[in-house]
Amino acid sequence: MTRDSAAGHPDFDGHETVEIRQAPGLTAVIAIHDSTLGAAVGGCRMAPYPSLDDALGDALRLSRSMTYKSALAGLPMGGGKAVIMGDPARDKSPELLRAMGAFIDALDGRFVGAGDAGIGAADMEVMAERTVHVAGWRDGGDPSPATAEGVFLGIEACARRRYGAGVKGMRVAVQGVGKVGFELARRLARAGARITASDTDPGRLERARDELGAAVCGPEEILAIEAEVLAPCALGGAIRADGIDALRVGVVAGAANNQLEDAALDAALMERGILYAPDYVINAGGIIDIHCRRRGERVDARLAEIPRTLEAVFAESERRRRPTGEVADRMAEARFRREP
Ligand code: NAI
Repeated sequence: MTRDSAAGHPDFDGHETVEIRQAPGLTAVIAIHDSTLGAAVGGCRMAPYPSLDDALGDALRLSRSMTYKSALAGLPMGGGKAVIMGDPARDKSPELLRAMGAFIDALDGRFVGAGDAGIGAADMEVMAERTVHVAGWRDGGDPSPATAEGVFLGIEACARRRYGAGVKGMRVAVQGVGKVGFELARRLARAGARITASDTDPGRLERARDELGAAVCGPEEILAIEAEVLAPCALGGAIRADGIDALRVGVVAGAANNQLEDAALDAALMERGILYAPDYVINAGGIIDIHCRRRGERVDARLAEIPRTLEAVFAESERRRRPTGEVADRMAEARFRREP
């Protein structure tokens, strides 16, 4: 199946290229959404998708987000994403990773892959035996600390906008204390915020409690906790239509991709007076880090752009009385859509 057959999928958005490889030992999708601003760069994710259709949908949605993310971060890159079907704990092997490297290589540099959920720097190194079009392993590896730093700066901007002050003394609920969530919680605690954390992995939750002094709660509870800020840092879809009434926060701002179950929920958040930081704006630190390492540029100055971009989105949202996600989309599209 290629682009033509993917065109019927509900998440298809005029993607330039969709390639599906179904070979013994590897079932994977590479989607390139838009390459107007440069070669498509994006993560390579491995997850136990229930069906090829689910994997395709994830690749289509995530590659689209990457176009918007890089455009609004001012990076000369397009948006793409690769997904591998399988359980990373059980199905990952050097052969599978080499086959994925060859799949990436077949796109001749139009897609550059980096690590993502289920795929780490060591895995990228194995893929690199078959292609030069991979990033985020030899040049320093894990972009999570940069992502966490960008989200932290973004939350500070949200707190100032919503409450007129930084996070010192504020209550922040962090959903998911994995690679990014833990680093974010550490920065927030250092800045004087009071953290409540949840995680489905008891070991990670204990670590947040023991090392950061975070209060802890159950995975469902975190979405109804009373706090100034909710930071979704687990998987996508944390904010659901049927959960909006239960929220007791003034700001939703976190690292997770596709935080809203439906993109149009930014309007419901706005109606409730909750300031929503569009996910791909606030979590751009990882892709910024990958770009800067490949170019040998300093990452700090570019990370400092994240709160500035958020402030521009918030100001425009207030001026036009439109929800923040919609405003960010229009600002990004103005950068990558060629006028007819
Ligand atoms: P991770 O896998 O290290 O952490 C995710 C954590 O969430 C894990 O500890 C997991 O146990 C926990 N979790 C899963 N379901 C949960 C639930 N229902 N409630 C509470 N906790 C739950 O992943 P990482 O790298 O920290 O990424 C987190 C999010 O940020 C993902 O959505 C990812 O796509 C996004 N992101 C990550 C970037 C990076 O640089 N790592 C860059 C941009 C976005």
